[in-house]
Amino acid sequence: MKTKIFNSRQIKEAAELIKKGELVAFPTETVYGLGANALDSKSVKKIFTVKGRPSDNPLIVHITRKEELKKIAKIHPSKKVLVEKVISKYWPGPLTIILHKTERVPLGVTGGLNTVAIRMPKNKIARRLIDYSKSPIAAPSANLSGKPSGTCSEHVFEDFDGKIAGIIKSNGCKIGLESTVIDLTTKNPVLLRPGAISFENLKKVLPDLEISDHSKEAKVKSPGMKYKHYSPDAEIILFERSARNKIPNYEESYKIQGKKVKVILPEKINNLPRNLFKILRRCDKDQVEYILIASVNEKEIGLAVMDRIRKAASRTIK
Ligand code: TXA
Ligand code: MG
Repeated sequence: MKTKIFNSRQIKEAAELIKKGELVAFPTETVYGLGANALDSKSVKKIFTVKGRPSDNPLIVHITRKEELKKIAKIHPSKKVLVEKVISKYWPGPLTIILHKTERVPLGVTGGLNTVAIRMPKNKIARRLIDYSKSPIAAPSANLSGKPSGTCSEHVFEDFDGKIAGIIKSNGCKIGLESTVIDLTTKNPVLLRPGAISFENLKKVLPDLEISDHSKEAKVKSPGMKYKHYSPDAEIILFERSARNKIPNYEESYKIQGKKVKVILPEKINNLPRNLFKILRRCDKDQVEYILIASVNEKEIGLAVMDRIRKAASRTIK
């Protein structure tokens, strides 16, 4: 398949491909999405095939108007005020909410669950693509399963050239990390995936918000969490604060063994959240074998950065 590259003036043409049941990668403010018509099972199935994604890992449905929400989600009367409060504060933006799904949403989108993840993106290209397609768009991050999420059209091209119908070019994704995911179907709301909208910020609107215990609960709550994620080819070793001083010794020792090593000291990187996935992908290109990375403070967006680093790391030194 020849992958067509579109610019921001050709979104209508890209939307025609979505309407025909094809896949189009598009920018959002978080990361690139790999989009298909969310209401068409056949199109959605293609996403899982080209990504190599396990079929029980559900997708996020992207919309641009609040009226769409009613068509795809059932909101319990006791939750209406809460949901309204959350979306009026954070939408459009990098927040995904989990609600009970309606009949219209194919089980192929939700990985067989009776709940659905929904997000209203802010990025103009994403919004125009959804509007011109005249349907909600199901989209995971645009990367081969297990690889770091794509944050610019070049990343998407590397992973999917020849495998998808189109890619819309852009200036890259502003945030660089995937959206915050919260479950609003449970008694107390639960943070399933940290992102740019921080736990501290959400707590102001959702005082009962809990952080999910990744090791136990999240396996059921957010199927995506059980898979290895964000990993470049290199082995990533995370150094907690107490072990930071060991980095030079490790570096030296790998170098003596003739290994290619990259040290990442977060304070030396301009806008780490935005550039993390880019740096990890760069390491693959440079055939780095070991990435030694120092931890960051888990406050605000730091919680999201550490979540991604922990999932990518194969070892942690304390
Ligand atoms: O920023 C983002 O969220 C990007 C852009 C394209 O919008 N999308 C993205 O999608 O990161 P993906 O598929 O890579 O991550 C979606 C996450 C997964 O961890 C998945 O398991 C979880 O959301 N998820 C989706 N539906 C769910 C549901 N019904 N219940 C619990 N978790 C769900
Ligand atoms: Mg992903």
